[in-house]
Amino acid sequence: MHTKTKYWTPADGDAGLNEAAAAIAAGGVVAFPTETVYGLGADARSEAAAERIFAAKGRPSDNPLIVHLADAADVDALAAEVSPLERTLMAVFWPGPLTLVLPVRPGAVAARVTAGLDTVAVRVPAHEIARRLIAAAGCPVAAPSANRSGRPSPTLASHVRDDLDGRIDGLLDGGPTGVGVESTVVRVLGGDVHILRPGGVTAEQLREAAGAAARVLVSAGDVAAAGAGSTGIAGDEAGAARATDAAVANPAVAFAAGAPRSPGVKYAHYAPRGVMAIASGAPEAVRAAVQAAVDEARRRGEPAGVLCCDEHAGSYRADAVIALGPRAEPAVAAQALYAALRECDARGLRFIAAEAFPEEGIGAALMNRMRKAAGGRALPV
Ligand code: TXA
Ligand code: MG
Repeated sequence: MHTKTKYWTPADGDAGLNEAAAAIAAGGVVAFPTETVYGLGADARSEAAAERIFAAKGRPSDNPLIVHLADAADVDALAAEVSPLERTLMAVFWPGPLTLVLPVRPGAVAARVTAGLDTVAVRVPAHEIARRLIAAAGCPVAAPSANRSGRPSPTLASHVRDDLDGRIDGLLDGGPTGVGVESTVVRVLGGDVHILRPGGVTAEQLREAAGAAARVLVSAGDVAAAGAGSTGIAGDEAGAARATDAAVANPAVAFAAGAPRSPGVKYAHYAPRGVMAIASGAPEAVRAAVQAAVDEARRRGEPAGVLCCDEHAGSYRADAVIALGPRAEPAVAAQALYAALRECDARGLRFIAAEAFPEEGIGAALMNRMRKAAGGRALPV
């Protein structure tokens, strides 16, 4: 596959944005910034355009895409039905990093986009460039994260270029994205809000918006996928154990057995090329465990690095020490994580020991992504 990729920067102004929108309207694939990560957009009504997204990313075809709208009012053209609770969530969180899985209106989007499911995932991004681009394209825009499948999601235009140059029609550079991890994907079923993928909107925020009548439940699927590969425990069991832990640690969430799952969660994600493992527990014990693991890897002759909180960054001896942010500010670490994982590859690290961050608020999404990057591997602490 080779396509000449056009690049637009903020200096190109409206002309650049309109060219990018015209490319999407003509069936092309164009990467653009959102408040979470860069997306790779195409006309959601076109089978051929959607197919080009899967081809550019090397994405498995049974993993459906999120459809992005410029305006919440357009949701009724895509969804067959929207419940009052779903309307409330849209009113509170849109524009913003919340994706709702809704029953699809037959024929509203290409079958490629929903991967043949009877539901469609929809969100209205809170990024000026994204919303203006979608409005100018004049169509619903299907957009997964703009990375090659299996690579960390892009939080900078340069990440998109590294992964997709020559495979897509264009890239609108809007600078660094804000949240740094993807949107929260939810499905409302039986009056409960099921979190299929943790993300930029936290479980606590959902609980507050949903009110006392609704429960907010963490779907087993996502946590189970994160657990796969951890020492000797089957993915589902490890995931169930961790989900129960999460529910205990955080009264805002509960673990739902047999709950709806998101097709995407079964795939390996965000894996750096080196082997990564996570240490959790009391900060001082974590620090010691991370240093011990790094020392051992270096004795094996492997370049070894650390992902850690700012407070510990000065104390490690390693081939690379990448600080993600203050321990008490998971939002800062969430924004930094994907670039840090890419840096691990750029530095040629064969082993990466990472410190766990507290799981409150967006820390849940941060740790979900870190566990996926680590394939569920935990360091003894
Ligand atoms: O923040 C985001 O959500 C970014 C930006 C670009 O908007 N997009 C993104 O898309 O993360 P992607 O394709 O990387 O992840 C979409 C997730 C996948 O886990 C997929 O399985 C799930 O949403 N999904 C999409 N449609 C679904 C559906 N109908 N039912 C259940 N899960 C669905
Ligand atoms: Mg993705």
